[in-house]
Amino acid sequence: MKILSTVNEVRSAVKAWKKEGKTVGLVPTMGFLHEGHISLIKRAVEENDHVVVSIFVNPTQFGPNEDFEAYPRDLEMDAKMCEEAGADIIFHPEASEMYPENFSSFVNMTGLTDALCGKSRPIHFQGVCTVVSKLFNIIPADNAYFGEKDAQQLAIIKRMVKDLNFDITIKGCPIVRESDGLAKSSRNTYLNAEERQAALVLSKAVNCGKEMVAAGEKDACTILTAMKDIINAEPLARIDYVEMVDMNTMKNIDTVSGDVLCAMAVFVGKTRLIDNFIVLED
Ligand code: PAJ
Repeated sequence: MKILSTVNEVRSAVKAWKKEGKTVGLVPTMGFLHEGHISLIKRAVEENDHVVVSIFVNPTQFGPNEDFEAYPRDLEMDAKMCEEAGADIIFHPEASEMYPENFSSFVNMTGLTDALCGKSRPIHFQGVCTVVSKLFNIIPADNAYFGEKDAQQLAIIKRMVKDLNFDITIKGCPIVRESDGLAKSSRNTYLNAEERQAALVLSKAVNCGKEMVAAGEKDACTILTAMKDIINAEPLARIDYVEMVDMNTMKNIDTVSGDVLCAMAVFVGKTRLIDNFIVLED
C-alpha cells in the first residue's frame, strides 16, 4: 500500500489502473479510522479491483468555533488499518495541496443543505461538497462509499452527483455501532467515562423511535416526543435537533410515509454527536 500526498501522484496511479481496464473504489475520510470507516473500505475492496482511501481533515467544512484543530489524527494507525482492510493507496494531502493560495471556487447546494445539520453548521455542507467534488475530479473512481451514519451528507452527495453529472456511483453503507449501541465516530474519543455512558441516550432514542415505527405509529410528533424525553432525562445531554424529514427533500414531515429520515444531533458535554434511522417505504 502506498501513501501519496500530491494530486499528480494519485491521479497518475489511478489513471494507470483505468488504462488497464481496472475498476476503482474511493472511500473519502477524515482519518482516525474506526470500524465504521473499515466497513466502507472492506465493501470497496469487495466491489472494485483497486481502492483509494482519502484521509484529509478538511478545513472548509469546519466552522470558526468548531473542532478543526482538535480533530484527532493518527496516520500511522490509519495506514495499518487501511493496509489490513486491503486498500491500495492512501491519499493524504496537505491543506495547501487541496487549497492553494487564491483558492476561490466552492460547490454550493440549496434546499437539502439548509435542514438538520445545515442549520447549526451553516458552511459545513459547502465545505463537504467542495472537497468531495475535488476528490472525485482528482481520483477518477467508478464507485465512492459513504456511511448512513451521516445520512444527510449521503443524500447531499447523491444529489450533487446527479445534479452535476459526476461519472461515479455512490454507495451507501449501514451504521456500525459499538456493542452497547453507540454509533462509532472519531469524535467519541472526546468523551470522558461519564459522558461515554451518557452518550447512550442517542442510540436508546433511535431504538425507541424505530420500535414505535415498527409497531405502526405514524405520527411524527408522538415519536419525536418519546425520543426527546429519553435524551432530556440525561443531564449531560443537550439536544441540538431531533427531527423527522422526507429523505428526498429534508423537509419536516407530520406523518410517517414514503422514505423518511429520523435524525438527531445531541451535545454530550461539549461533544456534538449524531445518529439516525431510516424508514424506507415498502
Ligand atoms: P468522516 O467523518 O471521517 O467519515 C468518513 C465516512 O465514514 C463517511 O462516509 C461516514 O458516514 C462514514 N462513517 C463514519 N462513522 C461511521 C459509522 N459508525 N458507520 C458507518 N459509516 C461511518 O464524513 C466525513 O469524514 C467527511 O465529511 C468527508 C466525506 C470525508 C468529507 O471531508
